[in-house]
Amino acid sequence: MSTTKLQDKFGRIHDYLRISLTEKCNLRCSYCMPEEGVQLSPRDSILSAQEIYDIANIFIGLGINKIRLTGGEPLIRKDFKDIIKALSTLPIKLTMTTNALLVDKFIDDLKKCGITSLNVSLDTLNPAKFQQITKRDKFQQTIDNINLLIKNGFHVKINVVLMKGFNENEILDFVNWTKKDNIHIRFIEFMPFDGNKWEWNRIISLKEILDMIDAQHKVIKLLDGKNSTSKAYQVLGYNGTFAVISSMTNHFCGSCNRLRLTANGKMKNCLFSNEEVDLLTPFRNEKDITPLIQNCLIKKNSKHGGIKELSKLNYDDPLMSQRSMITIGG
Ligand code: 5AD
Ligand code: SF4
Repeated sequence: MSTTKLQDKFGRIHDYLRISLTEKCNLRCSYCMPEEGVQLSPRDSILSAQEIYDIANIFIGLGINKIRLTGGEPLIRKDFKDIIKALSTLPIKLTMTTNALLVDKFIDDLKKCGITSLNVSLDTLNPAKFQQITKRDKFQQTIDNINLLIKNGFHVKINVVLMKGFNENEILDFVNWTKKDNIHIRFIEFMPFDGNKWEWNRIISLKEILDMIDAQHKVIKLLDGKNSTSKAYQVLGYNGTFAVISSMTNHFCGSCNRLRLTANGKMKNCLFSNEEVDLLTPFRNEKDITPLIQNCLIKKNSKHGGIKELSKLNYDDPLMSQRSMITIGG
């Protein structure tokens, strides 16, 4: 049994680590990747499969019991199978976030490594709009792979980033998908990241989403997990469920249990924080990185990476000069 040592100064215990495996992606979602692309880290500064395993192991020794692999798109790593095989030997719940484009090539490996639940990004059910938001003509491939995951018994959560003027008219279509399929739709409020042209008035809020669904359906509230970032619901009698991740209008920072490791080995204590602590260089120099991890955690702010008044945040704010989402991995 590992002991819990990752407690921050607000008493929050951190047992969940998200590891980004790559800064690259086979899609170009506008809310995630800036149009001009991102400056990629030099190849040799990206965590190797062995380093991912070793550093994950150090975090596990400090109390981490769940790891999510993210990206960019984690499945484009050539050594993805080696990475999950190694991580699956550790005492954690292993999971991932993917755009599903390559999952058909990994079904058996995911099963063998005990991955039973995946989050899949899909923001529209319309092929033309899919191409507009991702800049790639891959809608059918994505849908086919989601169906393949469902057929193979995976628990699939669909991440839908809602943006005014783009997909709010599809909220009910996504909810209708839960009628037959045991699928979990997660509507996510649009968040500001470098290069994604975010504005407050492009957010569809938790309240707007619920009002829209309530007007058409008998909706029941479901219980939310202890550290859940989402509020879960179900249309009465439907097989699947839906939820709202209201990071902007109703934050859930008070129960945050998450830490992040970027593909180039930097620890982030919050999605919104622009401070990073390099773990990889000292690790390569055979230094003990445990004090660095603990120190990074102690600096964690109570909410939103220390941005005081989120409601007054502008896209030009220097606080916004942080990484693009593509290099954090959500
Ligand atoms: N706002 C909200 N969610 C985002 N994601 C990526 N960029 C944003 C953003 N700007 C989510 C996507 C993806 C996950 C990794 O992060 O839904 O599934
Ligand atoms: Fe790729 Fe996901 Fe970012 Fe889209 S949201 S560009 S699929 S990492």
